[in-house]
Amino acid sequence: MQVLNTINAIRSEIHERKSAATVVGLVPTMGALHRGHLEIVRRAVAKNGVVVVSIFVNPTQFNDKSDLESYPRDLIKDLSLLSDISPDILVFAPDVKEMYSDGLVSDQYEFNGLDQQMEGRYRPGHFQGVATVVEKLLNIVRPDVAYFGKKDYQQLLIIKSLVKQCRIPVQIVGCSIVREASGLALSSRNDRLTKRLRQEASFIYHSLKAAKVQFGMKSAASVVKWIENQFADHPDLDLEYIVIADELNLKPVVRKIKGKKYRAFIAVYAEGIRLIDNVALN
Ligand code: PAF
Repeated sequence: MQVLNTINAIRSEIHERKSAATVVGLVPTMGALHRGHLEIVRRAVAKNGVVVVSIFVNPTQFNDKSDLESYPRDLIKDLSLLSDISPDILVFAPDVKEMYSDGLVSDQYEFNGLDQQMEGRYRPGHFQGVATVVEKLLNIVRPDVAYFGKKDYQQLLIIKSLVKQCRIPVQIVGCSIVREASGLALSSRNDRLTKRLRQEASFIYHSLKAAKVQFGMKSAASVVKWIENQFADHPDLDLEYIVIADELNLKPVVRKIKGKKYRAFIAVYAEGIRLIDNVALN
């Protein structure tokens, strides 16, 4: 499997492999690959003639320096997992200088409020950093299709908005959340949880499932209150936010409107490790 570290090298390898009819797929990651990533990569391999997996821990999307420093990195393991899927995958693993040759700063985008709630509110600058690196990756690889997980649902909407406003000709595909047997959404951060907390953290998903049932009968505000009370009984799980929002514009629900689609979004700290999840409510 080929691992390319520079923009010139990945561009020329794609050029070599590509004919006019070849569809190029990109799976952007920050490494520490888990089953969720691997399912996305398998999907991309099944559908595209050339598949690029980028592995780059993007500093500009971390508002917390210690989170960046402790973010798990294991390139050797990642490469072995990817080559088990297909030796033809191209891995793009640049260093920070290669990606940010003009300095470690984010570009500034306007996302019409999509970036103001939830992750945007609690992680200032996060989405400007995500958008900056994703725009760079899309311009480097020039894929026909790029894949992103729905666990980061807000990120998915922001990337769709990014490609629209920057007129980048790429199809953005959202991929279903993959879960542990307990229900906990897969995340590169789960490995940092103790065995006990990893089991207890499945409560995050179970509370969202219960919220879905309640949302059929109650107002959004009372479902939110109910979840907040549930977490008060789990002192090891520190609820940062629970938001029920319109699935398209992410505006928190004030009053349910027939025909609109809603989602519940949650962020929780367990042993100082931040976990997020979301479910469709209707
Ligand atoms: O979802 C992620 O892993 C990252 O935010 C992404 C899209 C690879 C950008 O760094």
